[in-house]
Amino acid sequence: MSKGTAFVPTMGALHAGHLSLIELAKSYSDEVVVSIFVNPLQFENPDDLAKYPRDIEGDSALALSAGATKIWAPTIEEIYPSNPTIISAGALANKYEGVNRPGHFDGVITVVDRLFKKVDPEFAIFGEKDFQQLFLIKQWVKEQQIPVTIIAAPLVRDSDGLALSSRNVRLGEDGRRQALVISKALFAARKSENPEEVMAQILRSEPAFTLDYAVIIDEESFEIASIQTKHRRALIAGWVNGVRLLDNMTMSVNA
Ligand code: PAF
Repeated sequence: MSKGTAFVPTMGALHAGHLSLIELAKSYSDEVVVSIFVNPLQFENPDDLAKYPRDIEGDSALALSAGATKIWAPTIEEIYPSNPTIISAGALANKYEGVNRPGHFDGVITVVDRLFKKVDPEFAIFGEKDFQQLFLIKQWVKEQQIPVTIIAAPLVRDSDGLALSSRNVRLGEDGRRQALVISKALFAARKSENPEEVMAQILRSEPAFTLDYAVIIDEESFEIASIQTKHRRALIAGWVNGVRLLDNMTMSVNA
């Protein structure tokens, strides 16, 4: 096991998906730092920021039970003692998740930079659930030659297939059943020779689902995948019952 710290940055509201990141972090280091910081820079809507669930005590207990050795819940002043210079996340930040959230990924990269400077980790763990975020962080670390190894943690699903998210509780019973169309579309696409078509067809079959995007991208470049693309990943985002849901899956059958 390495001597360096493994770091799991979070905004709190921890669920089993976060706990799996902490468990993975433990396999990289004996010292696992979990930060809990609701980053105002990545919210475009002040109302969303105000309503974001905050329970530092409950989250700390959960993180410690999953194997964290240190919880760090900094104040706004600690992270942003003065007006921060915003780091640009690059052109991809305006596509997919960025379309309706201008500045969101710039805010993410800016806070991750601040957190890394304070924690100075050897490893940092980010979930594949937010695949575009993970890609942009990896790209920034590479371009800026930041000496932190980024570890991707697999997305966690409930037993019915729904990707874990703190928003799932807002779906209600019907919404939850309707939301299963997303993972159903992904699993079917993975088995199909025409994944784009299959995915679109299945998503259309659920009237309660409103699509934002369903695409298959090249994991290496985040461009739309072609026939030659080796590592293809399907991304789906959309709405059920007023709740925005995100999911993705590798299209490699053996993965
Ligand atoms: O994925 C998240 O929870 C946040 O975007 C992160 C990486 C902790 C930055 O605030």
